[in-house]
Amino acid sequence: MDEFSLFPQQASTVATKVDMLFYVLTGLSLFFALLIAGLVVYFGIKYRRGAGVDRSGPVHTSLRLEVSWIASLTVLSMIMFGWGARVYVEMYQMPRDGMNIYVMGQQWMWQVQYPTGQREINTLHVPVHQVVRLTMVSEDVIHSFYVPAFRIKRDVLPGRYTTLWFEATQTGEYHLFCAEYCGTQHSGMVGKVVVMEPSQYQAWLQATRPAGQSEVIPQHQGAGGEQQPQTMAQAGAQFFQNFGCSSCHVMQGQGTGPSLVGLFGKQVQLENGDVVVADEQYIRRSILDPQAQIVKGYPPIMPTFAGQINEDELMRLVEYIRNLHTAEAGDNTRANNAANQTP
Ligand code: CUA
Repeated sequence: MDEFSLFPQQASTVATKVDMLFYVLTGLSLFFALLIAGLVVYFGIKYRRGAGVDRSGPVHTSLRLEVSWIASLTVLSMIMFGWGARVYVEMYQMPRDGMNIYVMGQQWMWQVQYPTGQREINTLHVPVHQVVRLTMVSEDVIHSFYVPAFRIKRDVLPGRYTTLWFEATQTGEYHLFCAEYCGTQHSGMVGKVVVMEPSQYQAWLQATRPAGQSEVIPQHQGAGGEQQPQTMAQAGAQFFQNFGCSSCHVMQGQGTGPSLVGLFGKQVQLENGDVVVADEQYIRRSILDPQAQIVKGYPPIMPTFAGQINEDELMRLVEYIRNLHTAEAGDNTRANNAANQTP
């Protein structure tokens, strides 16, 4: 049990901002609640039955008073709205840079996967003072990823990615909860976030490195082979071959499908005139529901891979495509190197 403290621990960059907003809002609410309750009590006593006060109720209006109180309260509430909206947008808009970690919710545990190939259950290791971006999905029902000390919470949904980011400001261990009732053992779906010094974190990454990470992956290997692949991108590269993606999505851009090199994070022109950003969600959707967003200039001939590929494999494909920066990266060894450099 932690030592008692009146205020909750603040361990991320947004925590102080959320708290400041919360305290000011609470203070304002208290001020007006006490003001109104105080006046109710005051008038209740002053005009109680039998009190000899003037009850003739002469009417005087002051336009200036009415305008000024309406205007000042409107301005005050707009300030609170603007402030709250700003904090909200900061919390839920993903920063462009940062390290990526993949989270999968499942009845009743959290599975965490690192680009370098490590996997963990109910524990998330991160370095301090570094932006961490989470890509999250559920394998069954709705869960919610909640780290109170970071003041972050977001639903983890089946069938679609949600994202969340944070930057821890203090080393230590923090509670991780599921904050959405998800079945019998919902209350047991808890874990911890371990925030470490960067050097310690690197040491941890090295120590937990999956076996055989330096090996070059054979080009043709049966799907679901016994050998556990190394980094997520390496595994993704393997799926890219095994599922036959590479026969259409030729790296140099001469294939039946568009080249995926350098695609990630870019804008994509669609056949219907829309422009979308090629993010995690776009990649996932394009694999499972290829007809939904057809890239301009390409025929709608890609078959769906829904039912053939699971969330775990999808995440590794996403990580592979995220790391395809140059045409040569289509070559496995290059992709591996790129992935290995991701912290
Ligand atoms: Cu998962 Cu509640």
